[in-house]
Amino acid sequence: MNRITIAVDGYSSCGKSTIAKDLAKTLKYTYIDSGAMYRAVTLYALEHNLFEGDYPNETVLKKQINQIHIDFRYNAATGKSDTFLNGENVEKEIRSMEVAGKVSPVAAIGFVREALVRQQQEMGKNKGIVMDGRDIGTVVFPDAELKIFVTARPEVRAHRRLAELAAKGENATFEEVLDNLTKRDLIDSTRKDGPLRQAEDAVVIDNSDLTVEEQNAIILKLFRDVK
Ligand code: CDP
Repeated sequence: MNRITIAVDGYSSCGKSTIAKDLAKTLKYTYIDSGAMYRAVTLYALEHNLFEGDYPNETVLKKQINQIHIDFRYNAATGKSDTFLNGENVEKEIRSMEVAGKVSPVAAIGFVREALVRQQQEMGKNKGIVMDGRDIGTVVFPDAELKIFVTARPEVRAHRRLAELAAKGENATFEEVLDNLTKRDLIDSTRKDGPLRQAEDAVVIDNSDLTVEEQNAIILKLFRDVK
């Protein structure tokens, strides 16, 4: 079977990356976490003091956007890919609550999206890719052969994210995490460029009450049904 393009979109912390990573591993496809790229641009803006309150200074960021280089490198110790920003491993830093609190306004900026979408399309030009994000099935790969749109109840998502953060030693309360998810979902769904929305030809999966194994079985069946 020819290698295809698989787009996994959906709300914050609903397990998109678990789905996408597991599927890529099973199929021996490349996995790309597009959210990590928006998080890396946000970290860059924080490190360069570009924020004025909740928003980055767009004029300065625009001048520097071509100096922001993001790539993914395999980490043999963890068996996963790490995100690199201008040659530095920032995998841990981009997952912080500080970055989560600032990323959606950055991801709403048109020139940021243009730059990252171009790189994502380049990464997927030979197919055999699973990419997760918000606009993958609608903007980045509108011709993807398989599009999955993932949702889960907000409280379930907040519990999952809280457990992830706790495992990494980051302190946050359930209320803080739920508030962050809700705000990001609102900004992500209402922005002008590449808003979070379900592609017409996407298959919707609510995984609130599914185990990872049940979810993976459903997705694998969807993949097998493509052709
Ligand atoms: O892992 P989680 O669902 O919390 O978020 P993420 O996938 O790491 O994405 C972080 C943020 O980046 C989102 O809240 C969006 O604002 C933005 N994003 C985007 O705008 N477009 C994408 N394709 C991926 C992420």
